[in-house]
Amino acid sequence: MLRKLLSLLGMKGVVVPDAAGLEEGQAKTIEVGDPLAGGKVVLLCRVEGVVYALDARCPHDEGGRLAKGPLFDGKLALCPLHNYRFDPRTGDAVGVACKSARRYKVVEANGKLEVFC
Ligand code: FES
Repeated sequence: MLRKLLSLLGMKGVVVPDAAGLEEGQAKTIEVGDPLAGGKVVLLCRVEGVVYALDARCPHDEGGRLAKGPLFDGKLALCPLHNYRFDPRTGDAVGVACKSARRYKVVEANGKLEVFC
């Protein structure tokens, strides 16, 4: 149902084949489309059993990227350039004044993960 609604709104879903292997407190990046031709790099984060997707471009806009690997404290995405942290559940910066990271909708069902950008 949600997948259909997102499609009607023009959001294109991308199936992530090996997302089931994303462990709690970890993050991984995926490329959606060609990053050199308007595509995106998306950071997938699993927090409290749920997968969230953030645009990997750091909203601090100084050229950093949110890092894959272990999440800070098992729950925050980290940009290593200036160590800003973002809550994957909301996209909000934590402990600093910065705009929020862009979030994308994720649908996880039947062992499949689909990200809508
Ligand atoms: S560019 Fe990411 S924290 Fe500064």
